[in-house]
Amino acid sequence: MPALSSAATGFSTAAKPATSAAPRPDCGAAPVPPDFEWGVATAAIQVEGAAHADGRSPSIWDTFCHQSGRIADGGNVDVSCDHYNRFATDIALMAELGVKHYRFSIAWPRIVPEGRGAVNEKGMDFYRRLVDCLRDHGITPHATLYHWDLPQSLQDRYAGWQSREVAKDFADYATAVVSRLGDRVDRWMPLNEIATFACYNGYGVGRPSSHAPGLALATARDRGQVIHHALLAHGLACQAIRAASPRPCRIAIAENFASCVPVIETPEHIDAARHAFADNYVNGSILFPLLQGRHDDAWAERHREALPEIAHGDWAIISQPIDEIGFNCYTGDYYQASDTLAGYEVVPASPAYPRAGGLSWLKIIPEAAYWGIRLVSEKLSPRRLPVFISENGCADTATADAAGLVSDVDRIAYTRAYLRQVLRAKQEGYPVSGYYHWSFLDNFEWGEGYTKRFGLVHVDYATQRRTPKLGYRWYRETIRAGRVV
Ligand code: GCO
Repeated sequence: MPALSSAATGFSTAAKPATSAAPRPDCGAAPVPPDFEWGVATAAIQVEGAAHADGRSPSIWDTFCHQSGRIADGGNVDVSCDHYNRFATDIALMAELGVKHYRFSIAWPRIVPEGRGAVNEKGMDFYRRLVDCLRDHGITPHATLYHWDLPQSLQDRYAGWQSREVAKDFADYATAVVSRLGDRVDRWMPLNEIATFACYNGYGVGRPSSHAPGLALATARDRGQVIHHALLAHGLACQAIRAASPRPCRIAIAENFASCVPVIETPEHIDAARHAFADNYVNGSILFPLLQGRHDDAWAERHREALPEIAHGDWAIISQPIDEIGFNCYTGDYYQASDTLAGYEVVPASPAYPRAGGLSWLKIIPEAAYWGIRLVSEKLSPRRLPVFISENGCADTATADAAGLVSDVDRIAYTRAYLRQVLRAKQEGYPVSGYYHWSFLDNFEWGEGYTKRFGLVHVDYATQRRTPKLGYRWYRETIRAGRVV
């Protein structure tokens, strides 16, 4: 890779807030302003269950789970947490927790069961009930339109995200939802983590993926094309949401972009992290197009073999203005300056480096929250859009005691450390607007099935009993006190 000058990466030192890079001694302990959005997050396929209720059709995840050997514990999404039938209990627990914001997703197969065509009003009614219940409890609904549960019929019809047709069908589905629910929801996220379903997982390159639909694409260009269709779906959906919404609304992305952390906060390593951020494949192929409406020229030059076919006018569609940046932040990588051509290198984490919840991908790197917020703001947000943590959390490794209480101190330690970094960014003047813990409930954790528990609330899947964990009490006290306790 050629060495990058700061002119090539476009980082402008002038864009930085006039504050010091050094952590402050009060880091994270200072009071949080009252308008900070404290929330929790879930996704339809991970919590709803009721797979056959009220006209819902199968999604690619229903199919995938029922193929043998796909899911660690052989679990499926038929019942899951039964949130479809128990949402009132769950929302009462949210209200008791003190959150005023709930991020959930809408299941495309409930609303447009065939993926295109007729709208299923019974499916819509569920979300009307859910949203009304939230509002009755003073909780603002934030709806994601796609959290990976593609209607199976679209996978069968045209190979799902491999086809350009999916973007148009997604926009029509967005219109169907927003024209019906837009009187009571005004915070929207079109797609969750394009990188995960189009890049790391779902449509894998060269090896069968551990996420639905479990495909193995042949080339990096095939993957680039899947990403491009997702970007197009995002742009068309933004247009559809604004056109269908009966009142002004706000649109956010919710991406797990790569956070690059300087291993030591000195100018040379900070510069290394900046270059790594702009060079990164996921950032360059997804985050930059979403926020600046096109690939960076230097990045595109370096990834020529992965560039998709881009039709005339696509960039104009993709570059719809958005209102907020949601950052799904779990992990990151440390970078240091080096005398390599690129000028930086990743600092390798040993196999024994601390990871949360027994998950190999979940390296504990709390500063990823601060640097993700800072780098996206500096590089890609000239209008200083609000940034919020749309997901953060970890699986715990605790077991319930005789009374059913789970002492998830690993969740508390992890979250406390990340949250301090989020609030550090806020204290330094970055436009941080909120934090959504992933997740409210233990739920279906994709290929891990029900073996990994990310919830603040324990779910006994045999009885569907909900028991708030120690982490729930910690989060409640943090929200109540308005500072990280
Ligand atoms: C995501 C995921 C969540 C996961 C969580 C833990 O958006 O990354 O949407 O669904 O469950 O990240 O892996």
